[in-house]
Amino acid sequence: MTRRPAVAIAAAALLVASPAVAQDVTVTVNTEAEGPHLSRHLFGQFAEHLGEGIYGGVWVGQDSTIPNVRGIRTDVVEALRHIRVPNVRYPGGCFADEYHWRDGVGPDRRTTVNANWGGALEPNTFGTNEFYDFIDQIGAEAFISVNVGSGTIQEAADWMAYMTADEQSSAGQERAANGHPEQYEVRFLGIGNESWGCGGNMRPEHYVDLLKRHARFDRNYNAAQTGERTMERVAVGPSDADTRYTEAVMAAWAGRDWSWSIEGLSLHSYTVPQWPPSLPSTEFSEDDYALILSTTLDMDRRIRLHSEIMDRYDPEREVALVVDEWGVWLAEDPGTQQGFLQQQNSLRDGILAALNFNIFARHGDRVRGANIAQMVNVLQALILTDGPRMVLTPTYYVHELYLPMQDATLVPVEFDAGEYVRGALTLPGVDAIAFRDTTGTLHVALVNLDPREEREIAIELGDRSVSSAHGRVMTGANVNSINTFDDPDAVTLQPISGRVSGGQVTVQLPAKSVAVLALQ
Ligand code: AHR
Repeated sequence: MTRRPAVAIAAAALLVASPAVAQDVTVTVNTEAEGPHLSRHLFGQFAEHLGEGIYGGVWVGQDSTIPNVRGIRTDVVEALRHIRVPNVRYPGGCFADEYHWRDGVGPDRRTTVNANWGGALEPNTFGTNEFYDFIDQIGAEAFISVNVGSGTIQEAADWMAYMTADEQSSAGQERAANGHPEQYEVRFLGIGNESWGCGGNMRPEHYVDLLKRHARFDRNYNAAQTGERTMERVAVGPSDADTRYTEAVMAAWAGRDWSWSIEGLSLHSYTVPQWPPSLPSTEFSEDDYALILSTTLDMDRRIRLHSEIMDRYDPEREVALVVDEWGVWLAEDPGTQQGFLQQQNSLRDGILAALNFNIFARHGDRVRGANIAQMVNVLQALILTDGPRMVLTPTYYVHELYLPMQDATLVPVEFDAGEYVRGALTLPGVDAIAFRDTTGTLHVALVNLDPREEREIAIELGDRSVSSAHGRVMTGANVNSINTFDDPDAVTLQPISGRVSGGQVTVQLPAKSVAVLALQ
């Protein structure tokens, strides 16, 4: 692909200008070829008992003046329904390996201490039944993480029976007595969380022994009765570029016998250029912008690294890589409670989310699930709440933009990304993917990483005729623009259209933006 001379005019930018040259980009879509299925579960969410992720963010209690249905806030439910959340991972995180499910069922709830997250008191008012009520209200499926670190296999098996066994069993009767006679579904079962770290600092060999027992005994009684394999077991896998768990779990899986198996391997990989996380979520510089985006692009390398190992043991790609914790991890906002991991969310973070969705899509034949951390009020949140107020973040709007990618089919593209240079960092100027949605409509998702220069994008479709190119774009005044309770619409979605001429579509893609266009 040849790079054409620059024609774009610098967009108004409040950041100090450095010489930058806009380039045209041609994206050639191979409409004859078909890539992998893109699971809707790439857009999974994560809700941990952490800070205000649950209490305040999802649960306000039935007596609250904040509008709610059975204690679950209505505004948050409506926002999440709109983006068709496919699954919610719960109850943690590190919290999961210290969670005892019996504390959170029935009329008498125990108050415990959330030792991982700020030492906050945990009233356990929100437990299993409330979680299922919540996901039912938003139309999502359950991704339950069982306690491998400090719980017993019997405890996990009992929880599974409580959730999935029918009313003829005592476990089912207990659930019915707590208000839910019907069996719950467990779509994904996370067998532990970060067992290499907060989940117990286990050697991979020790974890694998526990994994085999959980994979066998944490039974899904729905499946036992129907014979359908509806639940996917997700083993703890690697952290970032550490391959020890990848090797150990996949070697065990490859040598498995009939008595146990897994369907997924977890990868946790945050965008955090320095530990402890210290970069601010607001009023950051362009240097930070470039550093964070260049760090996030490492996701591609990490997925490749682990996929290559998985391919050696599983060439048929039966086991999915599930990136069930990802997102940007920044300094906690000043004035917020330490340990609650509250950070603002800027246009940059929305761009970061889009880049990750594009990476997941390119690896869609292996990456079949992902859960951004976290859904409400924690880390790279989609939604922020403050008492009765709620605001949608740029990351939320990217989820809305990418709705047509849920269960779509990837269509291969070729393009020369050009460059965005900041100091010593050289990033791609643009990113692009294409996919056919469930109705057959072709979409192109475009990201312009350059904070100053718009790009003219030419989309070539070969012999395929197109009569219209319409969609929406997310941008804002600055890469550090944020939505606040007082100014909730600083970064939102606006219409964008391409010019169609002779089978080619041309789009002016604003600086620092994400766009998804339907080509019809
Ligand atoms: O998402 C916050 C924490 O990050 C999770 O609890 C843990 O799994 C990870 O280390």
